[in-house]
Amino acid sequence: MAASSREGKQLHDAVFQFGQAAQAAMAAYGRERVVNATVGCYAGEDEVLGCLPVVEEIYRSLPMADFITYAPPVGLADYRKAAIDETFEAYRPEGYIDAVATAGGTGAVHIAIANYSEVGDDVLASDWRWGIYGSLCQEIGRRLTTFALLDESGAFNIESFSSAVADVLRKQDSLLIILNTPANNPTGFALSDQDWAEVLQVCRFHEKQGKRISILVDIAYIAYAGEKNEVRTFMKQFSNLPPHLFIMAAFSMSKGYTLYGQRAGALVGVSSSEDVIKEFTELGRYSARTSWSNVNRAAMTLLTTIRGDAALTKRLDEERMEFFRIIQQRASLFTEEAAQCGLRVIPYHAGFFISIPTANPQAVCEALQDELVFAAPLALGVRLGVCSVPLPKIKGLAAKIKKAVDK
Ligand SMILES: Cc1ncc(COP(=O)(O)O)c(C=O)c1O
Repeated sequence: MAASSREGKQLHDAVFQFGQAAQAAMAAYGRERVVNATVGCYAGEDEVLGCLPVVEEIYRSLPMADFITYAPPVGLADYRKAAIDETFEAYRPEGYIDAVATAGGTGAVHIAIANYSEVGDDVLASDWRWGIYGSLCQEIGRRLTTFALLDESGAFNIESFSSAVADVLRKQDSLLIILNTPANNPTGFALSDQDWAEVLQVCRFHEKQGKRISILVDIAYIAYAGEKNEVRTFMKQFSNLPPHLFIMAAFSMSKGYTLYGQRAGALVGVSSSEDVIKEFTELGRYSARTSWSNVNRAAMTLLTTIRGDAALTKRLDEERMEFFRIIQQRASLFTEEAAQCGLRVIPYHAGFFISIPTANPQAVCEALQDELVFAAPLALGVRLGVCSVPLPKIKGLAAKIKKAVDK
């Protein structure tokens, strides 16, 4: 019955497949014997999905009307303002800024692709990336093309970035670039302020040649990247950019508020041109209305309630830092043991995931299953969700992975 253009479309989700296998292993051998590193949500040392206590308290206290009332397609005004504040914190760039509420960070990426890339064009992202970017592009007739995130020394590969941008712009008049930093999924890598300066220099060069460039910064995991202002210093560089160099941020409440299933986020735009921002808001409103109509009002109210109260904001900051510290402890133990046993790991700064580069990720993940370890195979390696594996189960994990990689 499906339209011919849609026939055979299937979501290939290897993460889900290995996640299912982990569940089956837990049922067969007992939870305590299984390491499930496929999960992309924070869990405490008790392996239970974590909810920030202040979020649970305030969410449960909201009136029913907040859960059932429609919201404007563009989002509640206070929420849009607060999402902008949270995106930039102390490093708000100068310029015109607006935000459109979206169905999570996924919705923000969708709107950015739909409105800032041409049908049939290439969208650029790094090779180590969230797999869904490719599907989001393909779904609406764009193609994802990639550059190498890292050079031989493990630093940001500005050469690869620069030549990929030039290659694409030889055949296109405009380009959308997606950069997932800090706390990159799947590597935990982050661009430094210097990396950002070089990225913007490359983009300015092409803008001067008459090209239109949009950069979407996917900040889905920024709440667990470190101290909130220290991890945002690069954002000040978004001030006073030329009018045809447009910056957007994909903001999400999924991780930062542990509200994964509540589907709230925002696309934030910043430009030196008022017209660019007016157009951004109108297009966002239209896209929202025609994709999901409007987003979860209660989640929006939760954010404005917490951010509107200094004591609650302080609690939120502290509780997030506690989650961050626990993830950092797990990651440190893993990277120390990896160094000891000679397992190569992509340079990890912070975030939910660590990646191990390998030529045959599927085979490594299959070999790991024999040890009751479940991880996600990606195109370039194996992803471990340190966000959800407790410290005792991290111990010895690097050696097991090294054995599987060598095999
Ligand atoms: C890199 C990245 N960006 C964006 C998202 C979007 O998440 P959500 O739509 O739940 O906000 C995710 C979720 O896994 C992600 O990993």
